[in-house]
Amino acid sequence: MFGVRSEILQLQPSLVRWRRHLHRFPELGFKEKQTSAFIQEHLKEWGIPYFVVVGTGVVATIEGHTTDRVLAIRADMDALPIQEANITDYRSQIDGIMHACGHDGHTAIAMGTAYYLWQHRQELKGTVKILFQPAEESPGGAKPMIEAGVLQNPRVDAILGLHIWNNLPLGTIGVKPGALMAAVEIFDCTITGRGGHGAIPHQTIDAVVVGAQVVNALQTIVSRNIDPLDSAVVTIGKFQSGHAPNVIANTAELSGTVRYFNPQLEHLIRQRVEQIIRGVCDCHGATYALDYKKYYPPVVNDPAMTSLVQAVAAETIESSVIPECATLAAEDMSFFLQTVPGCFFFLGSANAAKGLDYPHHHPRFDFDETVLGIGVEMFVRCTDRFFSSHPTLCQNK
Ligand code: NI
Repeated sequence: MFGVRSEILQLQPSLVRWRRHLHRFPELGFKEKQTSAFIQEHLKEWGIPYFVVVGTGVVATIEGHTTDRVLAIRADMDALPIQEANITDYRSQIDGIMHACGHDGHTAIAMGTAYYLWQHRQELKGTVKILFQPAEESPGGAKPMIEAGVLQNPRVDAILGLHIWNNLPLGTIGVKPGALMAAVEIFDCTITGRGGHGAIPHQTIDAVVVGAQVVNALQTIVSRNIDPLDSAVVTIGKFQSGHAPNVIANTAELSGTVRYFNPQLEHLIRQRVEQIIRGVCDCHGATYALDYKKYYPPVVNDPAMTSLVQAVAAETIESSVIPECATLAAEDMSFFLQTVPGCFFFLGSANAAKGLDYPHHHPRFDFDETVLGIGVEMFVRCTDRFFSSHPTLCQNK
């Protein structure tokens, strides 16, 4: 399709300019007002039809010809509650808020893709919907967008998304069929014992001791209950109890996160967490209150759409496609992929020589902006290949 690379190279300065503007003015989930307005201004200027959904989300539609197939491209656009520590002329101007995950880059890539496809709409063999999604980090914007009907009218056959990824070097793409990112669940547990004098323990039920045993026993879920060939994590990130050295604590508060790829583990892990907490509390005479919340399901890629992305990646980046790239981090792209077949992939963005290799969510996170053009090229080439492929590929009818 088209003279892709040379044209996208001409677009590169604009991609960098948009990304830096968004980086200067980051906004948290569902508060992306300026971000949404920035996207809308450009779509309006270019003449691309769009509508606003769930407050700050934007859906741009580029109608093509030849086929009635519809491909969606999704980009998230929210930032994180982190104080930026980088000293650049495009550093965050908003205290305590930073684009520390690269969603500024995702938005710029999606804008560039919309612009490019709009310029070439006469050659486009199907319709592309570009979904600018709010609140990926929290509390999740994908599900409300789906509930608002963004995958209907016209009905979307398949979806693509990407994540700029500093765990991979620039010039690589990580993609695999099946589970690419994990499900995420969070739980809070309050254990109640009976407080008392630090020197008279037999009159008490020590919430610190009970809590410590719960933390230890929970480790057996991954080590003893799950097939070692499956990956899962049970992390207790918070344990608060007690306030004085000579006082036995009345309560202990534990909070943790659960991650897994295999959707069949959902029930097992949740059940074991509660069984263990109940069993340990019972044997000490303590009580508990457990609040266990399911957040995002695993990101699961469709095999046919993954093959398409792998083939395009091989011709786009010429260097390396990382075939078994996966992470137990989570993403609400998973809700889209549960609804329509699609593929989410990682776009390597680290450049250690330039110091652009801090991890995601770090106050010094930044990436090599060369990745912006690569992202547009990937989406444009994938779009062309999707509409040129046999119509049975991922027809979600
Ligand atoms: Ni992210």
